[in-house]
Amino acid sequence: MKDILTELNDRREAARLGGGQKRLDAQHGRGKLTARERIDLLVDEGSFEEFDMFVTHRCTDFGMEKQKPAGDGVVTGWGTINGRMVYVFSQDFTVLGGSVSATHAMKICKIMDMAMQNGAPVIGINDSGGARIQEGVDSLAGYGEVFQRNIMASGVVPQISVIMGPCAGGAVYSPAMTDFIFMVKDSSYMFVTGPDVVKTVTNEVVTAEELGGASTHTKKSSVADAAFENDVEALAEVRRLVDFLPLNNREKPPVRPFFDEPGRVEASLDTLVPDNPNTPYDMKELILKLADEGDFYEIQEEFAKNIITGFIRLEGRTVGVVANQPMVLAGVLDIDSSRKAARFVRFCDAFEIPILTLIDVPGFLPGTTQEYRGVIKHGAKLLFAYGEATVPKVTVITRKAYGGAYVVMSSKHLRSDFNYAWPTAEIAVMGAKGATEIIHRADLDDAEKTAEHVADYEDRFANPFVAAERGFIDEVIQPRSTRKRVSRAFASLRNKKQQMPWKKHDNIPL
Ligand code: HXC
Repeated sequence: MKDILTELNDRREAARLGGGQKRLDAQHGRGKLTARERIDLLVDEGSFEEFDMFVTHRCTDFGMEKQKPAGDGVVTGWGTINGRMVYVFSQDFTVLGGSVSATHAMKICKIMDMAMQNGAPVIGINDSGGARIQEGVDSLAGYGEVFQRNIMASGVVPQISVIMGPCAGGAVYSPAMTDFIFMVKDSSYMFVTGPDVVKTVTNEVVTAEELGGASTHTKKSSVADAAFENDVEALAEVRRLVDFLPLNNREKPPVRPFFDEPGRVEASLDTLVPDNPNTPYDMKELILKLADEGDFYEIQEEFAKNIITGFIRLEGRTVGVVANQPMVLAGVLDIDSSRKAARFVRFCDAFEIPILTLIDVPGFLPGTTQEYRGVIKHGAKLLFAYGEATVPKVTVITRKAYGGAYVVMSSKHLRSDFNYAWPTAEIAVMGAKGATEIIHRADLDDAEKTAEHVADYEDRFANPFVAAERGFIDEVIQPRSTRKRVSRAFASLRNKKQQMPWKKHDNIPL
């Protein structure tokens, strides 16, 4: 027995060494943690249970039979984050560059299947040279199996990808199908084809960082949801995100202890909206003042800043927030902001997370650039997402709610449950000046008359009462009491049940 135990320990030691001390040191030399160190930081101390530590590849080409590292370049298993179960895979770049063989993929598939069966999130830590070149189509088949599971798991369990090294070629499509992608600045990149191929095909000279680094994907492409300074910070933030999420689509999000009075009055909100309707203010101030303990987890902070998306808690319960940001492009809806918000709304709806919408929107951005790139289709995504969402929906209009954007942004007409407006709300087809220029075109040369028309339009529509008279606004509320009103509204909706007609799936404009 003693010999067998010694052998077990020796085998485990060897497996834990991955590609050997030299390569582990090289990994550290690049400012990166090892696959196992990452898991240790991600899950609760001592909670990780590993699977398939002794799995090896079966390739016999190119002399591969001589190097069969235990574990085959990926560490898989399950652990807990603040006591709640998650499944994890962490690619080990020190073993054949973390490249994906058939068995490597099989290990990932095994934990994905268990996550689906047992209803827990999957967190994938990606650090890989892509398909194991020596294995050819076996490796590609392995990727295909992972992709299919990403698709089946979508909307069933949350899937989170953390990119902590190279992620290139078709390999990017597994993270792309997960719910959230996080990157590490200066040490991770994602692209379909690398800089060398780009140069050959298009003659463009570009660095890996410019082509697919964290900055590119959080600011330009919106492929990634956030970027962090280093591995440690990224993993801590994943833990923080998981705390907001339900474990699967049949569970409610977790209820956390809260130390903040739900009826907390914020007198400063009464003066948040400036007197001049064209002066911007920071919508984030409102979000922070509504949230339990001012805790806000923002998603895609660096992209389409004219709309804000992220998670807060109210009375300890997760709420997804979508808010126009008057500080950026006056909070206008455009292609990028519509896509960003639509995806977020759909995530919330898939995972039973109620949605709070804070509105100050002057409409959709006009212009050829937007029209040629399909603002109609992209704007419709947000409209569609709100209309199909059956989770509790509470809306507060702080200032402008103009035109199509009024309808799109979780209006009463799209089955929103509570629609509040501040007294400063203006609900109209468009701003008074624009409206006057159209309906009183004949008087445009007469400045005095035009001013009268503008004032008349403002009197009629630059307020929430016309909509309130029709029941499109449920209540005009004091800004200072917004947290209380919104918390009570969500509390009253905890047992909400709303059905969709039977369908195989919808056909959201993509
Ligand atoms: C087998 C690989 C490998 C791969 C790296 N290695 N990538 N082995 N298959 N795909 C091995 C290297 O031989 C080396 O082994 C070790 O990993 C570390 O690699 P280095 O090149 O020394 O590291 P570095 O200089 O940091 O460069 C990392 C890299 C580079 C940029 C990822 O290795 C690289 O370009 N690899 C190939 C990338 C690629 O083209 N992959 C296929 C993409 S297509 P030793 O023994 O020397 O330590 C794809 C399709 C997926 O993935 C399709 C899904 C449908």
